[in-house]
Amino acid sequence: MGSECKHMADTSDVTQHAIDYSQRIPNNVDLATDRSLQRALERWQPAFLNWWNETGPANTAALEVYLRTAVSVDRDGWANFGYVRMPEYRWGIFLTLRDEDRKIHFGDHKGEPAWQDVPGEYRSALRRIIVTQGDTEPASVEQQRLLGATCPSMYDLRNLFQVNVEEGRHLWAMVYLLHRYFGRDGREEAEALLQRRSGDLNNPRILTAFNEKTSHWLAYYMFTFFTDRDGKFQLAALAESAFDPLARTTKFMLTEEAHHMFIGESGVARALQRTCEVMREYNLTDPMQVRGQGVIDLETLQRFVNFHYSVTLDLFGSEISSNAASYYTGGLKGRYAEGNIGDDHALASDFYSVPESQDGKIVNREVPALTALNARLRDDYLREIQAGVDRWNRIPQKFGIPFRLTLPHVGFHRKIGSFGGQHISPDGRVLSKDDWESESPAWLPSEDDHAFVSSLMGRVIEPGKFANWIAPPARGVNNQPIQFEYVRFN
Ligand SMILES: [Fe+2]
Ligand SMILES: [Fe+2]
Repeated sequence: MGSECKHMADTSDVTQHAIDYSQRIPNNVDLATDRSLQRALERWQPAFLNWWNETGPANTAALEVYLRTAVSVDRDGWANFGYVRMPEYRWGIFLTLRDEDRKIHFGDHKGEPAWQDVPGEYRSALRRIIVTQGDTEPASVEQQRLLGATCPSMYDLRNLFQVNVEEGRHLWAMVYLLHRYFGRDGREEAEALLQRRSGDLNNPRILTAFNEKTSHWLAYYMFTFFTDRDGKFQLAALAESAFDPLARTTKFMLTEEAHHMFIGESGVARALQRTCEVMREYNLTDPMQVRGQGVIDLETLQRFVNFHYSVTLDLFGSEISSNAASYYTGGLKGRYAEGNIGDDHALASDFYSVPESQDGKIVNREVPALTALNARLRDDYLREIQAGVDRWNRIPQKFGIPFRLTLPHVGFHRKIGSFGGQHISPDGRVLSKDDWESESPAWLPSEDDHAFVSSLMGRVIEPGKFANWIAPPARGVNNQPIQFEYVRFN
C-alpha cells in the first residue's frame, strides 16, 4: 500500500513538472483538457507572433541562436541548450509544481488554503496587478529591439536574444492567467498588452521606466542590472500570493530573471574592467583622455548608475501606499521572502521608518508598517543593488584606482512618491529648484554622454572578438568556450 501511494505521487510529479512540447502551445498546465481556453490562447498566439515580428529584435528571422529552452520546471529543467531559429522559439506556459497543502501565510486570510481561483472581491485588484506586471515584459523587448545592430560581441548578442525570448515568455505567463481566470475582461487585457508600445505617445506602456529608450549597450546593461532586478522583487512579492496560480507562475519566472540580472551585472563589470585596464595602461585619470582611448570614463558610468537607479526606484510606487496595504491584508502580494520573516505576518501594530524631506532636511518618519510596504520592498531591493555595486567596486580597487561607484540618495531624481517633484542631490541635500538646475547636469547622462557612448557601439560578430570598450566575460555560456559560435548568420 505504502509503495503504491508513493508510485502515485511520483506519477503526478512527473506530469506536473514536464513540459509538453507536442502541443501548439508548450505547457505543463494540461491545456489540452480545457478546449475553450486552448482555443482562446491559440487565437492569441498569432497576434503575439505578429507583435514579435513587428517590435521584437530586428532582423533576426534568419538567425539561429544558441538558446536555452525550459524542458521542465525542475531545477535542472534549464539544461536544454541548442540552436533555435528566433521566430520558432517555443514560448509556452510553465508553472511550478502545485503544493496541494499550500496555505496563505500572511494577511487577513492567513492559515486558509491558497486560492485556486480568483475570489470575486479581489478580482479587479488581481487583474490590475497581473496586467501591470505583464505590460513590463513586452515593453522591455520593444526597448531593446535595435540593440542587435551594435552588439559588442557574438556572446553578448546571444545573451540579448535569450533575454528577449524570455521576456516574451513572461508575457505568455501573465496572458495565461488573464485568459484562464479573468474571462472576457482578461481576454481584452491580453489583447491590449499587444497593442501598447514602449515610448508611444498615444498608447504607451503603463510604467515610465518602460517607456525610456534603451539606445545603446551601456543603457541595456544598466537596465538589466537595475530594472530587471525590480522585476525580481515584484515577482518575489507575487510569488507569496494567496492566488496560487500567480504564485506558481511567478516562481518559475524568477528562475529566468536571475540570468537577466547576471547579464546586467557582468556587462557593467566588463565595461568597468576595460576602462580600468586602459587607465592603468596609459596612466590616465582625466575623463576626456580616457574617452580618447575609446572606453567609457568612470564619471560617465556613475551618471548612468544615477539615472537607471533613480528611474527604477520609481517603479516601487509611493513609499506610503494604501493600495500596497490592501494588497497585503488581502493576501494578494506579500513581502520579499515573507516566509523567512519572523513576525505575525499581519503587521497590524508594526511601524516602519521611511525617509522624506521636511523643512529643507531629510528626516526619517515612523509610519504604520502596512502602509509602507512599497518602501520596504524598495529597501530590500537596494540592499541587493548595493551588494552588486560593492562587487563592481572591487575592479577599480584591484587596479589601484581610487574611484568608487556610489548609489545616489533614494530621493535623488524621483518622479513618484514622497520625493517626487523635490530636488535632492545624490548625497542627500535638499536643493532649491535653481540649485538643482545648475548642478544636476553633472549628475545625469547628457545628450553628449549618450552620443559618446553610442559612438563606441560598433557591431562585433566575429566569434571570440569583443568591442574595444568592453572586456570579454570570464566564461562562455553553458560551459562553451568564449569563441563559440553563439549565433549562426545564414
Ligand atoms: Fe520578465
Ligand atoms: Fe527580465
